[in-house]
Amino acid sequence: MSRYEVTTRAVRIKLDANEHPYGVVPELRGELQRALGAVDASRYPDASSSGVRALLGRHLGVDADRIVVGSGSNEVMACIATSVRAEVSQVVIPCPTFGMYRVVAGNLDLPVVEVPTDRDFRLEPEAVGRAVSRGSSLVFLCMPNNPTGAYFPHDCVQAALDAGARAVVVDEAYGEFGGSSWVEASGRDPRVIVLRTLSKAFGLAGVRLGYCVAHGEVVGRIDAVRAPYNVGGYSQAAAAVVLERPEVQLASVAPVAESIRDMIRELSGIPGLRPFPSCTNFVLFRVDEGTYGMSATELWEALGDRGISIRRFGGVPELEGHLRVSAGLPEENEEFLAGLRDLGGGER
Ligand SMILES: Cc1ncc(COP(=O)(O)O)c(C=O)c1O
Repeated sequence: MSRYEVTTRAVRIKLDANEHPYGVVPELRGELQRALGAVDASRYPDASSSGVRALLGRHLGVDADRIVVGSGSNEVMACIATSVRAEVSQVVIPCPTFGMYRVVAGNLDLPVVEVPTDRDFRLEPEAVGRAVSRGSSLVFLCMPNNPTGAYFPHDCVQAALDAGARAVVVDEAYGEFGGSSWVEASGRDPRVIVLRTLSKAFGLAGVRLGYCVAHGEVVGRIDAVRAPYNVGGYSQAAAAVVLERPEVQLASVAPVAESIRDMIRELSGIPGLRPFPSCTNFVLFRVDEGTYGMSATELWEALGDRGISIRRFGGVPELEGHLRVSAGLPEENEEFLAGLRDLGGGER
């Protein structure tokens, strides 16, 4: 049985989980408090989150019947995999990518086939196609990819479909930060399932609400795996607030994206650190021990001692020497960068 490791230590500046630095924007916070206050905790919630699905449908321009909502997209991911379990014999994922795909595969006793990326974490569509076994592969493609930050070529999805994948889950957890979406394609091809979440751009990681958009032919099977009442009343109420006026919350994406651009520029200026391009609210960077004067692990520990938590990747050989930092508040980003400048001692 595999398990997804999460940090539980208390930290002053938390830049390790790709949460939204501002959370729900100030304009919506009063409404959020009112909506939560109106929830009747003694009653079961709407069993299939129909109100939330209607709002999501309106936001995305798709029929609400094509949407399945869960307690975070992690839960929906597991529902999707369970719904096709009887027909698949392997899970195909790029390497490196989001760790939960491996956990989901492990929980269903499915072997994982990894498609390697190059040294700059680029993925070749042909390699994806070669890894797929016709009719029996469940493929996860994270677009843009966590933890590397960039989109894989869109042809990777097509290559998986052309090679006969049974299902291709396009994980668009960071989709609101820019780039094109596979939502429309999911209406044309029952094998394309788009996974999304309110945890990132919508600022509701604590609410635990994710969803998928699937073709009418397959959505019933995914929904059948879901437990009734899987999303609590407080979560549904909070989600409804941001989805009633999505443009208000999503206006917060531009400043976060800008802070990521600044972060990349600043990281590039520190000898021994090399950031990768990002279309998300986080940045992956490589630490060259010789030039920076400290290994990635030592840097991670030294930042931790200062109360700053970022993400390291134990047990993933491809990510050795790499760290990931999420966008924080401006003063948090500054303190993080000041720490990096301070700690880097230059050539050893
Ligand atoms: C790529 C990706 N998918 C899915 C998730 C899960 O999000 P949640 O369960 O909060 O919706 C995350 C969380 O970090 C993620 O990075």
